[in-house]
Amino acid sequence: TEQTYIMIKPDGVQRGLTGEIIGRFERRGYKLVAMKLVHASQEHLEKHYADLKGKPFFPGLVKYMASGPVVAMVWEGKDVVKQGRALLGATNPLASAPGTIRGDFAIDVGRNICHGSDAVESAKKEIALWFGEQNPTINYTRAVDTWVYE
Ligand code: GTP
Ligand code: MG
Repeated sequence: TEQTYIMIKPDGVQRGLTGEIIGRFERRGYKLVAMKLVHASQEHLEKHYADLKGKPFFPGLVKYMASGPVVAMVWEGKDVVKQGRALLGATNPLASAPGTIRGDFAIDVGRNICHGSDAVESAKKEIALWFGEQNPTINYTRAVDTWVYE
């Protein structure tokens, strides 16, 4: 089944939104298969955001992301990469619909409280970067899955 890398950024952790964000993925029916709290280095974050190197906001982005611990998670389920991005809302919270995480809890693009992989391939890379090359995910069954999936 499909997996995605979801991260609660330092502002989300500081603002006490960890439980709220995890709860939204849980209530949707997705399955948490890996999770840890990490205070990432700037070097690590430069790798995570390698695609954005050269953007004017890149130094500020790396500094913001290194300013405190983040919650690194892997979520699993049908279409979870795309649906996870939908749960987060648009990158710029001012363009995020109410009912999304950013649309409900954020205002500035530079303080948008969460991250989600944008494709299955980037999810694989991000999971390896944050959790190591060895598959970090926990394999377990949930009784509720017969009520979530047809
Ligand atoms: P993520 O899920 O966080 O990866 O967001 P995204 O995929 O919707 O956007 P993208 O990967 O292009 O940008 C990554 C992050 O950089 C965003 O979530 C923002 O935190 C930050 N960012 C993107 N564009 C801007 C910008 O114009 N200004 C500032 N200050 N930050 C930006
Ligand atoms: Mg992105």
